[in-house]
Amino acid sequence: SDQPLVLGFETSCDETGIGLVRGSTLLSDALATSVAEHERFGGVVPEIASRAHLEAMVPTVHRALADAGVTLGDVDAVAVTAGPGLTGALLVGVAAAKAYALALDRPLYGVNHLAAHVAVDELEHGRLAEPSIAMLVSGGHSSLLLVPDLSQDVQPLGQTIDDAAGEAFDKVARVLGLPFPGGPYVDRAARDGDPASIAFPRGLTGQRDAPYDFSFSGLKTAVARWVEARERAGEPVPVPDVAAAFQEAVVDVLTAKAVRACRDHGVDHLVIGGGVAANSRLRALASERCAAAGIVLRTPSPRLCTDNGAMVAALGSRLVQAGVAPSDPSLGADSSMP
Ligand code: KG4
Ligand code: ZN
Repeated sequence: SDQPLVLGFETSCDETGIGLVRGSTLLSDALATSVAEHERFGGVVPEIASRAHLEAMVPTVHRALADAGVTLGDVDAVAVTAGPGLTGALLVGVAAAKAYALALDRPLYGVNHLAAHVAVDELEHGRLAEPSIAMLVSGGHSSLLLVPDLSQDVQPLGQTIDDAAGEAFDKVARVLGLPFPGGPYVDRAARDGDPASIAFPRGLTGQRDAPYDFSFSGLKTAVARWVEARERAGEPVPVPDVAAAFQEAVVDVLTAKAVRACRDHGVDHLVIGGGVAANSRLRALASERCAAAGIVLRTPSPRLCTDNGAMVAALGSRLVQAGVAPSDPSLGADSSMP
């Protein structure tokens, strides 16, 4: 094939993701995770994540190559997440990607993790409509973006002013005694609960609030207080009901603001990505509200919503094909990249 083969590195959090993409075809997506090592801390410990990336890096690259049936010599370009994320974790990926690019004498592309979460959708659903609105919801971010051109113009519209949506899921899961990371467990527990059983607050939905910003910290606190009051009264905590009511509060705000961003900007395409995009209720409510508003909704399959190397390779491939200049060899990591 004359399409470029791109090797992607993702190490912004606790997943070491190595992906291979040719053009917009996914060839392989190898993943190693240190999630179990963070469980007893209830959150990702940066130094543990960095050490785990270092140990997993080369074996995971070899696995990705073997799965794709290619060799290092076949690689045409290297892409790596340069930010945002945990500094030490990002540095391991950037250093590794530089080493491979240098040894192979191939161009290196430092990419934005959020844009990569959007780009991954092209592997399954073809070229993104431009402009699109993108909503990225994960353990580290909750952002609304206007995407006039994924390869060179991605504009932030709003973001969380406190906790990320996934962080709220993880903290509420902890309060409910569910394992870490809690998002998938809350999702599962909520299936047996009544979302209308408890009225939890919807943050930043007032008239005068920033229309595209999010706030989940008040919601998280409200859930914790509600559970504590139950426990103090010696009453059992209805885990499925709390999970369903909390989840409904999060996805109600997320979908309402995403649809509003589309409407305000005259955009009729929405992409939802990031780990929380795997949430079954978010997917259902977003489909419902987008259909009602005449918006075409695209969401990557759950496997590609969470952090992985294929998303980085997908964006790298986009940049190569758009003729964007590679990164300078002095590329660094930017933990707070916008
Ligand atoms: O994108 P991701 O893998 O990593 C970050 O960049 O943060 O997202 C992980 C987050 C975690 O907070 C996890 O609990 C959440 O995504 N998550 C979910 C679901 N699956 C993963 N949250 C709600 N429902 C889910 N089904
Ligand atoms: Zn992510």
